[in-house]
Order: sequence, then C-alpha cells, then structure tokens
Amino acid sequence: MMSFVLLFLVSILFPAIQAKQLTKCEIPWVLKDLDGYGGITLPEWACIIFHTSGFDTQTIIKNNGSTEYGLFQISNNFWCKSHQIPQSRNICNITCESLLDDNLTDDVKCVQKILDIKGIDYWLAHKALCSEKLEQWRCETL
Ligand SMILES: *[C@@H]1O[C@H](CO)[C@@H](O)[C@H](O)[C@H]1NC(C)=O
Ligand SMILES: *[C@@H]1O[C@H](CO)[C@@H](O)[C@H](O)[C@H]1NC(C)=O
Ligand SMILES: *[C@@H]1O[C@H](CO)[C@@H](O)[C@H](O)[C@H]1NC(C)=O
Repeated sequence: MMSFVLLFLVSILFPAIQAKQLTKCEIPWVLKDLDGYGGITLPEWACIIFHTSGFDTQTIIKNNGSTEYGLFQISNNFWCKSHQIPQSRNICNITCESLLDDNLTDDVKCVQKILDIKGIDYWLAHKALCSEKLEQWRCETL
C-alpha cells in the first residue's frame, strides 16, 4: 500500500517527461538523420553519446555556471534556453527541457547546427575516445 501511494505521488509529481535509456542498437533508428552528417558516422555517435550521457535522454549536468541537457549534453549558455541563462543566444531556438524527452527530432536538429557552427570538437569525447576502435559501437545482429 505504502509503495503504491509513493508510486502514485511520483507519477503525479513527475508526469510530463518521457525519459528514455537508449541502447546502441537503437542508434541507427533514432539518429538516422545524423548518419554521415559533417562526416561523423553512427558508431562514432554511439561512442560519443555513451561517454557524454550514458545513453540517458534525461541527463542534466551542471558545469561551472551553465548546464548541459540530454543525450548530447547541449549547453544552455548558447544553444538552448533556460531560466538559468535567459540571455542565451538560443541558437537552436528551443527550450533546454525539450532536450530531455524521448523525441529526438529537436535534439538532432540542434546537433546539426552545432556541427555546422562549432564542429565535432564540441563533444570532447570524440577526439579523446571515439576516433578509433569503433567496432564495439556497432549493433551486431547475429
Ligand atoms: C568558471 O567560469 C568562470 C567565468 O566564466 C571562469 O572565470 C572560471 O575560470 C571557470 N572555472 C573553471 C573551473 O572552469
Ligand atoms: C523559433 O521557434 C518558434 C516556435 O517555437 C518560431 O515561431 C520562430 O519563428 C522560431 N525562430 C527562428 C529564428 O527560427
Ligand atoms: C517530435 O517533435 C517534433 C517537433 O520537434 C514533432 O513535429 C513530432 O511530431 C514529434 N514526434 C513524435 C513522435 O511525437
């Protein structure tokens, strides 16, 4: 009974966000619009996302005065808009909260803008950890 009440409370307090824990085998489906964009392949993205957010769309990391949101850890100091930094240029023209749900359409559009403007070096994991030995990031169907 107690746990039922607790569950009920949790579900009314946090109803809106549909979080999603992705797997590397979902990457080819959900990120197909990123395949090859800016010369970056999907196994590279799988690796970057693993090291950036652990494949969890609800990841929020505070980082010295700014905050990074979602699967791709997009920052509110420039790319999206939040209460913390109202003067953000909001290049992607979205609220940062919209990067936390399981609809990745807006995330992917924003990532394409980041690639256009700043390039793949926005994601520090790429150069450090995801530029070689990418076999393990493919989805192997046996
Ligand atoms: C945090 O940001 C401030 C102002 O942008 C900067 O002066 C400071 O060096 C930063 N600290 C770290 C640890 O990056
Ligand atoms: C930003 O998004 C809103 C809808 O959310 C739209 O009306 C507006 O035209 C967009 N602005 C730009 C510069 O794309
Ligand atoms: C995902 O969001 C976009 C707008 O960002 C919307 O057009 C689309 O219908 C949404 N897809 C789903 C499955 O809800």
